[in-house]
Amino acid sequence: MCRKKNGEKLSNRISLIDLEALAGVNANRNLKNFYKDFQIQYESLSAEQRDMEILEILKKIHAPLQTVGAHRSKVWEAGWKENVDDYKKSGNKSSLLPKYFGKTRIFRYMGKLVLGKEKFCDYKLHTVMVDLVLSKYLTKDIKQVHEFGCGTGLHLDRFADWVEEDIKLNGYDWTETSGEMIDLINNNSQKKIRFEQFNFFRPRKLSKSLKDGVIITCAALEQVGTDFRMFINFLLDESPSLVIHLEPFSELLDENNLLDYLSIQYCSKRNYLKGLLNYLESLATEGVIEIIERRRLFCGSRFLEGYPVVVWRVRH
Ligand SMILES: C[S@@+](CC[C@H](N)C(=O)[O-])C[C@H]1O[C@@H](n2cnc3c(N)ncnc32)[C@H](O)[C@@H]1O
Repeated sequence: MCRKKNGEKLSNRISLIDLEALAGVNANRNLKNFYKDFQIQYESLSAEQRDMEILEILKKIHAPLQTVGAHRSKVWEAGWKENVDDYKKSGNKSSLLPKYFGKTRIFRYMGKLVLGKEKFCDYKLHTVMVDLVLSKYLTKDIKQVHEFGCGTGLHLDRFADWVEEDIKLNGYDWTETSGEMIDLINNNSQKKIRFEQFNFFRPRKLSKSLKDGVIITCAALEQVGTDFRMFINFLLDESPSLVIHLEPFSELLDENNLLDYLSIQYCSKRNYLKGLLNYLESLATEGVIEIIERRRLFCGSRFLEGYPVVVWRVRH
């Protein structure tokens, strides 16, 4: 929807219905209720603004950038510790919000850079998309959701607000601090989210079987670069019902499109996830797994389209 007021810039509104269309799902009743007041307002950029943003992205890509990988566990511990300390002080759930969100009002929507009316549109868009995608696959037989690389527990905390009560929620991360945050969430509410420490680089048997559960990773496997095989092979052994990834799958982007190309370059510079989709496709060709969905959501932050969706399951 567009509005023009006294010659002011056109203002656009993103509704839940718009995002349902992108995610290819009709939100269930719980989710519709949870997001009943949802909207994001944004403005289109002028040609000059867009040029400035593209220049910023190029500068970022060409500046020294931190690469992800096994050396970063202490960085994540320290980052989440700030969130834990904030939460202990304020008791406010906004402390779950990772500090890399809301750094700019610019975000990607429908393949364009746009300017949010308020801060944290990137966060709002990310979280509603995660919920919509998960809701699509929560069939009646699913009794467990397992989020790997769960960070501050922000997704699990929301899931607890809208998934059916009989679905158990489990979080895993290599940081101890994630577990501390989830304890705080549970203590401040009636929630019963389970946490276990887990490292993608050294998968080990967990205390709970993953069979009959849905696995979800959101911007988490991005952190392992090309070292995803151990985790995928671990999942093959565990044989969960379904695996959902919302990760920066650059393979789904179009390198002949400027914004896509910049996202691919940014991900490559940071050493983000690379080759997972090819690996899954080779497993599908061998008949080991079935890929159920590959979908771009055409949303993201200024620098990248961070959460295209790939869903698969083990063939029995
Ligand atoms: C970008 S954050 C995403 C957090 C959350 N999934 C979200 O969407 O907000 C990446 C998460 O992956 C975790 N992570 C990074 N490398 C990991 C590894 N090797 N094993 C397990 N977790 C890891 C980090 O600690 C962090 O919580």
